[in-house]
Amino acid sequence: MRTVIINGTDHKGSTYRIAHDLGIKLGGELEEFFLPGDFGEFCVGCTRCFVDSEKKCPHYKKLAPLTEAMDRADVIILASPVYVYHATGAMKAFLDHYGYRWMVHSPEEKMFRKQAVCITTAAGAGMATAMKDMEHSLFFWGVAKIYRFGLAVAAANWDGVSEKKKKKADKATSAIARKILLSQGKVKPGLKTRGLFFIMHLMQRKGFNERDARYWQEKGWTGKVRPWKAGG
Ligand SMILES: Cc1cc2nc3c(=O)[nH]c(=O)nc-3n(C[C@H](O)[C@H](O)[C@H](O)COP(=O)(O)O)c2cc1C
Repeated sequence: MRTVIINGTDHKGSTYRIAHDLGIKLGGELEEFFLPGDFGEFCVGCTRCFVDSEKKCPHYKKLAPLTEAMDRADVIILASPVYVYHATGAMKAFLDHYGYRWMVHSPEEKMFRKQAVCITTAAGAGMATAMKDMEHSLFFWGVAKIYRFGLAVAAANWDGVSEKKKKKADKATSAIARKILLSQGKVKPGLKTRGLFFIMHLMQRKGFNERDARYWQEKGWTGKVRPWKAGG
């Protein structure tokens, strides 16, 4: 089991503690990145990734260690505290760089066999919207199974979090870890993802963006090949 955690801040606060705990419970190899320390660039909007190649992105090399770690991982954990009702700006800036991987463009086939978790904490409110900020990318990348955990910690840091809330987090991460471990190696995308893939496969047959259409054709996805099936 390989797990990668992308933390939406550089510090080891409540969100990190919960995400890290889950990573430990999953066992195996664990890689952790912190934003913006490990990657802090903003998308410049050049659209080269969509039109030409992601390799033409001015940040391609800086982003590569994180991209490769996500591609290697069986489980991707995106963890961000709530900042003004959303994920942190660092998390958003990171995710912007993978717009080219959305299903409407050129999704990475490995994503369709992965599991992922969104983790967020807030003092009190905004978890649903912060969670969505991360979940949207995971879903549109094609990730097969997505779990969520949000906790209103009523605190500014982990030391201030009550024992009761810490226990709640512990119970939740244990339950998620159990489900992930049970599904490991046999996870397949649900109806919603397969439905969206089907619509995209029809669209890419006509091809409104040359690069994307070529990508889908080369993968065989405009025909009968599917990335979640053996040989896909
Ligand atoms: C800039 C900033 C914005 C925040 N916005 C919210 C918010 O909208 N809602 C909320 O309940 N807490 C908000 N908080 C509090 C944090 O989400 C909360 O303390 C969280 O548990 C911190 O996680 P961390 O320890 O991982 O950094 C904010 C904190 C900061 C620093």
